[in-house]
This record gives sequence, C-alpha cells and structure tokens, in this order.
Amino acid sequence: MSDGSGFGKTILFGEHFVVYGLPAVASAIGKKTIANVEKSDKFEFIDNRPETPGYKETKKDEIKRQLDAIIRHFNIDVQNNPIKIVLSGDLECASGIGASAALAASISRALNQHLGLGMDDDEINRAAYIVEEAGSGTPSGIDNTCAVHGGFITFEKNLSGGPNKIERLSLPRPVEVVIANTGITKETKEVVADVKKLKENSPEIFGRIFSDYRQIFSDAVVAIKNGNMKKLGILMDRNQQILAEMTLSCPEIEEIISAAKSAGAFGAKLTGTGRGGSVIVLTPWKDLQEKVAKAIEEKGHSVLKTSIG
Ligand code: PMV
Repeated sequence: MSDGSGFGKTILFGEHFVVYGLPAVASAIGKKTIANVEKSDKFEFIDNRPETPGYKETKKDEIKRQLDAIIRHFNIDVQNNPIKIVLSGDLECASGIGASAALAASISRALNQHLGLGMDDDEINRAAYIVEEAGSGTPSGIDNTCAVHGGFITFEKNLSGGPNKIERLSLPRPVEVVIANTGITKETKEVVADVKKLKENSPEIFGRIFSDYRQIFSDAVVAIKNGNMKKLGILMDRNQQILAEMTLSCPEIEEIISAAKSAGAFGAKLTGTGRGGSVIVLTPWKDLQEKVAKAIEEKGHSVLKTSIG
C-alpha cells in the first residue's frame, strides 16, 4: 500500500485578492489529510476524513471533479488496473481550512509512490493544482502550495501562467491562533465568481479596496518580521473590514469575531472563501488561546487550537 499526506492551511491575509495577483500570507497547520492507495478489483473511493456536518454532501460535485482529474492526470486505467483510494487523517474537513487542496496533495503523493513516478515536490504541487482547478475553477494555487510544501509563506500568483512567487516567512517564535468553524460550507467557485461580478460592477470601490489591501499586506510583512503581534492583530481586523465590504462576511463570522475580541483576541478575520467557513483569531500565547477558544465554543462554534510560523 502507498500513502501520502497534505497539510491543511490558513490564510492570514489576502484570500480573494490573491486570485487577482495580489500577494497573500498563508501558513500550513499541523493537521493533515492522509491518502492510502492500493490495487483493487474495482475503482473505489472511501472518504473517512472527519468533517463539519454536511461538508462532504455540499462538496460532492467538487470532490467528484477532483477525482476525475486525478484519474486523468495520472492516467489511471479504471477498467483494467483499478485502484482503491482511502482518505483519513486529523484535518477536519471544513470550508476555509484547505481541505480540498489537502485531498489533492495527499492523493497525488500516494499515487506518485504507487506508480513509482519519482515526482519531486514541485511536480506534486503542479498535479495538486490541476486537481484543484478541476474542483474549484480558477484557484490561485495558494492552498495546494501550502498543502504540499507546508511552512509559512507569502504567495503571489503569476497571472501570465509562469511560476508563482513564493517566499518563506518566519516569526521570531511560532504564534498561537484559534481557527473557529462557522459550520457553514460554501462552494469556493461560486463565491469567487460572485466577487468577480461585484468587482466588474463597482470598479471604483474595488480599486480603493485593492489599494487598501496592498498597504495592509506590506505592513503585515513588516509586523511579522518584527514579531509585532499588536500591529498584526490590527491589520487582521482591517483586512476583515474590507472583506466584509466585499460581502464575504456573515452573521456567524461576526459573532465569532465579536466573542473573540471580547475575550481579548489581538485580531480576527475570516479565512478562505468566506460567507461561512472559518475564522482565524490571533491569540499569541497559550492562556489567551484557551480563553478565546472557550468564549467561541460558548457561542456554539467548534474550534481548532494551533500555531503558525
Ligand atoms: O476556502 P478555501 O480554504 O478553499 O480558500 C479559498 C481562497 C480563495 O482566495 C477565495 C480562492 C483561491 O483560490 O485562492
């Protein structure tokens, strides 16, 4: 049996902007999806990943498109040489945590081993991107890059199709965060298409929002390099404000943010697709992380306590 894994991720700055070639900041998290691949007498896909209720049902078409793309990309002969793929791992599938990229990365890694292809990480990443593309339209590539390479990075999509710009970031020490789950799953493809329409209809507003975001990003990189958590939190709040202007927030996200801020969080914003999905909260030491996580749980939302950097 062959196996492979893919990390979950969180976007600290720049979801949606990254689709238009603006730079973003993202970190892999310590939770992953594991894929096992073995020969079988028929093609089988068994999905044992833990999930937010309803995730797999909402994403079933997307997952099907991803599997079809995997079969095509790796030239799997499902009639004459069928395989069984089993997914597991400790990454709970939810919107905003990079679950689909972790699926793409883990299966690509397992198939590379199963078929003895000798692909390096960049080739695995390209395969994972193709699978993501089949699943969700025009992904920026940030999710699969985190899923395959791990670490803490800035990411800028090359809109002309050349290699994306990826730089490693480091914080003076890993920083505690809480990732809260609204329990709502959205199709990334639909939300990205909706933002595109809004942008086309309101070029002036989006021009101002994009220029605000550029400033937030460059200030954030400085704050990260200096380990300035106060400033980083303020910048996350500002990023959230413009994401809300882009209609990407929702009452559940706002409820989580307000509980987190009342409990002393340094900053909080939606992470990933938005309109549900996940919220990332900056809580740069253990006690604060516990306190904020508890406050969010008391509002009925599940949380993941992890660190970035
Ligand atoms: O919801 P997620 O974790 O799949 O993140 C989507 C991030 C977007 O910027 C909205 C889309 C993309 O491809 O980068």
